[in-house]
Amino acid sequence: MDNCKIIESIKNKYLCNHKENTLRHVEEVAETAVKLAKVYNVNVEKVKLAALLHDISAIMSPQAMYELAKVRDFEIDAAEEKYHFLLHQRISRLIAQEEYSINDSEILDAIECHTTLKKNASMYDKIIFIADKISWDQKGLPPYYDLIQSKVMDSLDEACYAFIKYQFDNNLLLMPHQWLIEAYEELQERMICKLSV
Ligand SMILES: [Fe+2]
Ligand SMILES: [Fe+2]
Repeated sequence: MDNCKIIESIKNKYLCNHKENTLRHVEEVAETAVKLAKVYNVNVEKVKLAALLHDISAIMSPQAMYELAKVRDFEIDAAEEKYHFLLHQRISRLIAQEEYSINDSEILDAIECHTTLKKNASMYDKIIFIADKISWDQKGLPPYYDLIQSKVMDSLDEACYAFIKYQFDNNLLLMPHQWLIEAYEELQERMICKLSV
């Protein structure tokens, strides 16, 4: 299937499952992510596909995601065990791979860690992560919008770090996922190194 057909099929999937709001959100994330892809010189088509697919698991309930994760022998994080919806990033990867035959690991990885990020994150991972936060799925601009916008065109690391720090500082995390903790620690170290140069 060529990219145009895949994109059409992805959009239909959201619409057939009455996920119009999610479709609007992923299209906004795609728009933001494509802008960032051009700034950071990464493949625009890959970023667009990752953005459109990142929340495709919205067609399933958190309980159904949890059951599927169990059947597929996922190693389940304590945060995912308690809050099943946290699995949605990993289930979206599964759907991208199995229903849309996406085999590109840069696309799949970016989908898989769009909520939590992870250590050793690629440019694709960081672009989808931060685009998802800038173009969030709620009304109006997010409260951290200015904080992220002031950094995102200069440094993805600084923008990702600022967002995760904002979450910790404001007690916004129900239960931090291990991947998020590891990403935060790694970015924190990079920020310290930058300051000491
Ligand atoms: Fe998401
Ligand atoms: Fe999202």
